[in-house]
Amino acid sequence: MDERILARYPREVVLKNGSKVFLRPLREDDVERLYDFFLNEVSEEDLMLLKDNVKDYYVVENWCRNLDYDRVFPLVAQDEGGRIVGNATLHHREYGWSRQVAKIRVLTCLGCRGLGLGTAMVKELLEVAQIMGLSKVMAEVLSSQKAAMDALEKLGFQRVACIPGLARDYKGREHDMCVYVYTVTPQWDAF
Ligand SMILES: CC(C)(COP(=O)(O)OP(=O)(O)OC[C@H]1O[C@@H](n2cnc3c(N)ncnc32)[C@H](O)[C@@H]1OP(=O)(O)O)[C@@H](O)C(=O)NCCC(=O)NCCS
Repeated sequence: MDERILARYPREVVLKNGSKVFLRPLREDDVERLYDFFLNEVSEEDLMLLKDNVKDYYVVENWCRNLDYDRVFPLVAQDEGGRIVGNATLHHREYGWSRQVAKIRVLTCLGCRGLGLGTAMVKELLEVAQIMGLSKVMAEVLSSQKAAMDALEKLGFQRVACIPGLARDYKGREHDMCVYVYTVTPQWDAF
């Protein structure tokens, strides 16, 4: 992992209500905090649309114990009381045709929606992608995730495809899956 990325943290963000959160990479000792976030800070509806079963303690434990920031860069937002209130990840492959591309995922706590946290976390990961020298960042969003679509479009992501009924949640409901792409501006010092 590029030293310039790790040197950015902890990074303070002031939310629209004046409260502060700190962005930093996920650590090995975050298991309880991250599990608590998934269990108590987001809705059942949010969880149903995730790709992993985060209600399974071992899934969360496995993420924290097997960190590899070059493959998955997981960013958390911690409030002043120490609680995790947001989780966003940048997934990247070092080899193959998609090595210039990363996928992003973001989830913020129910109590802090609309305060600018999701935007701040995505912006931060876009800067990380820029430092990593990546050229595209993609997001897969389900048609029911309207806030995510709004947030990504405001940040400059473009919807490039929408596949009807591709996703099915745990209740068996189908959702369209839309692909968003952001083109990263290369850093001047990369040349
Ligand atoms: C998408 C998500 C991360 C946004 O987080 P957030 O902390 O509310 O983000 P922000 O406060 O920066 O809001 C960004 C934009 O989202 C939209 N938004 C936020 N809350 C919203 C709400 N309750 N209803 C509709 N749109 C909303 C707005 O367009 C907002 O922009 P604005 O502040 O300029 O009006 C959050 O809603 C979430 O975790 N959703 C569930 C998971 C998800 O959909 N992830 C995306 C898949 S990658």
